[in-house]
Amino acid sequence: MAVIIAPSILSANFSRLADECARVAEAADWLHVDVMDNHFVPNLTIGLPVVADLLSAVQTDIDCHLMINDPDRWAPAYAEAGAASVTFHHEAARDSVGLCRALRRSGARAGIAIKPGTPVSAITPIAHEADMILIMTVEPGFGGQAFMSECLRKVTEVRDFARSRDLRIIVQVDGGVSAATIEQCAQAGANAFVAGAAVYGTDDPAAAVQNLRSLAESAIARCAH
Ligand code: DX5
Ligand code: ZN
Repeated sequence: MAVIIAPSILSANFSRLADECARVAEAADWLHVDVMDNHFVPNLTIGLPVVADLLSAVQTDIDCHLMINDPDRWAPAYAEAGAASVTFHHEAARDSVGLCRALRRSGARAGIAIKPGTPVSAITPIAHEADMILIMTVEPGFGGQAFMSECLRKVTEVRDFARSRDLRIIVQVDGGVSAATIEQCAQAGANAFVAGAAVYGTDDPAAAVQNLRSLAESAIARCAH
């Protein structure tokens, strides 16, 4: 599967978001937008009005990661507003299957995220309803945290499950993904990579995206041999 690099604007300067998006627009596949409600996670970011404005300001596909309670109620509006992907947390959802179906009906990719403590077995029975599974590689809530390598076995578990059922699922990793960790993620079976600090924490975010892409692509090519 193609490598997808999604810079997280959580590490960008929020006073000039559209300009920050433009810095990586050419190099990135998606822009990853973290929505946090200060309930599901102990942090607060942006909500639908800002995401809707970003959608009209940038051409790049927007990948919304909703770290919020009651996604059953709130998530569909992000798809209706035009987000290319909408990912919600299985831990927070009442009806993950119904929510995936609603998101897809609105034209978005449906993503299901799980926190480090949630086993893959919680979502395998419903994985066929999703376009993407997000394996968190930090506890959700903040950028710039250390990568949890113990989550890599979950990445492999999802990828193996998808292969065994012939499911074309995007396996995304988010949290602590950098030039030092992206190859392990790719080797474990991820094909979509979110990176905040490793992109916006550098002087040249576009070059950082390109470097991450080439590291992921060569790691995947090595696995194929
Ligand atoms: C954290 C967010 C991430 C965050 C990743 O809960 O979901 O998307 O921006 O940031 P880094 O890449 O800095 O760990
Ligand atoms: Zn995220």
